[in-house]
Amino acid sequence: MEKLKVGIIGTGGISQCHTEGYKAIPELCEVVACCDIDEEKVKKYAARYGIPRWYTDCREMMANEKLDCVSVCTWNSAHKECTIVALDGGANVICEKPMAMNAQEAREMNEAAERNGKLLQVGFVRRFGRDADTVLDFKNAGMIGDIYYAKAQYLRRSGCPGGWFKDKRFSGGGPLIDLGVHVIDLARYLAGNPKPVSAFGCAYDNLGPNRANGGQAAWAVADLDEHPYNVEDFVSALIRFENGFTLQLEASFNLNIPEDHGEVDLFGTKAGIKMDDNVEIYTDFAGKFVNMAPTGRNGFDFTGAFNAEIAGFVNAVLGNAPCRATGEDGEELMKIIDAIYESASKGVSIDIK
Ligand SMILES: NC(=O)c1ccc[n+]([C@@H]2O[C@H](COP(=O)([O-])OP(=O)(O)OC[C@H]3O[C@@H](n4cnc5c(N)ncnc54)[C@H](O)[C@@H]3O)[C@@H](O)[C@H]2O)c1
Repeated sequence: MEKLKVGIIGTGGISQCHTEGYKAIPELCEVVACCDIDEEKVKKYAARYGIPRWYTDCREMMANEKLDCVSVCTWNSAHKECTIVALDGGANVICEKPMAMNAQEAREMNEAAERNGKLLQVGFVRRFGRDADTVLDFKNAGMIGDIYYAKAQYLRRSGCPGGWFKDKRFSGGGPLIDLGVHVIDLARYLAGNPKPVSAFGCAYDNLGPNRANGGQAAWAVADLDEHPYNVEDFVSALIRFENGFTLQLEASFNLNIPEDHGEVDLFGTKAGIKMDDNVEIYTDFAGKFVNMAPTGRNGFDFTGAFNAEIAGFVNAVLGNAPCRATGEDGEELMKIIDAIYESASKGVSIDIK
């Protein structure tokens, strides 16, 4: 079998996880080209990973190469354009999360996939974590029952990634669109991908812009001239789904809490589940309340999950397995994000169509 030819668009931080994911399955694919608007960066990247050709324009890359797969790893505002260029150029695409700046852009990306008959996967890496697999194993064994409520937290005390992440023109928003997407999607996935019907949200910017000037900010956020801090620093939301499932979300770049904290809690008719560093199950058995945890490590494993995500994408392209994080899932998520931002600005609950 001929190996799939892969290209990378955007050679920054997270693209390394994609390239390493492809390199972990050399029998199926090879990375033959990479592209970044920053020439120095893309040259170094190509040399570091032994990628034969590099480009500074993704149109040129698509015109010169015959690529089967493309990873889009640019900042958020370039996701739509690069994804559509890659799909129209004949490749299947995995685009990093958030899929786009808003649901309208996500729709246009899905339309490009449909008209080209290509796969568009979204980088919802949490779907590929061993914690998600463990929960699904218990759910599929009938232990959880129907999941009717969930709480998802992705909270940083002082963790704005800086750079373009804090600049709405490039990111589309703050911790909601950057961190919240991961855990909203994870909870929705584990609850069976129900359709969202409405959202009520509150967003704040009390701490971030001040901490960006120094103080105890742990992450570099100093380039305020190039990238102002004009996104929210904390968001809280309640999302309703058509099957009655509700999800409560909290996400922050800056919040006065003792330490960073990430957790997803799922509440089912037969058991509750807590996902943080491990997976725990709360149920009752033989007239007793029982708390259980599987042996071994079941928490989220960053490298393992990225490798599973990229292998999942390649196998979906090869027709060996269904895609586990579709463009449609990405678009549903963007509808939720849009509704939370609109709700936060108007102070009312927003219906999701
Ligand atoms: N799945 C995860 O856990 C995870 C983690 C971090 C980041 N991300 C996502 O990955 C994406 C990239 O984040 P990052 O931290 O790697 O950012 P980064 O700033 O390190 O890299 C982004 C790169 O994209 C390049 N770029 C921008 N526009 C381009 C274009 N039109 N063509 C080619 N290159 C272009 C930039 O020059 C930069 O090198 C973001 O969407 C982010 O939300 C996902």
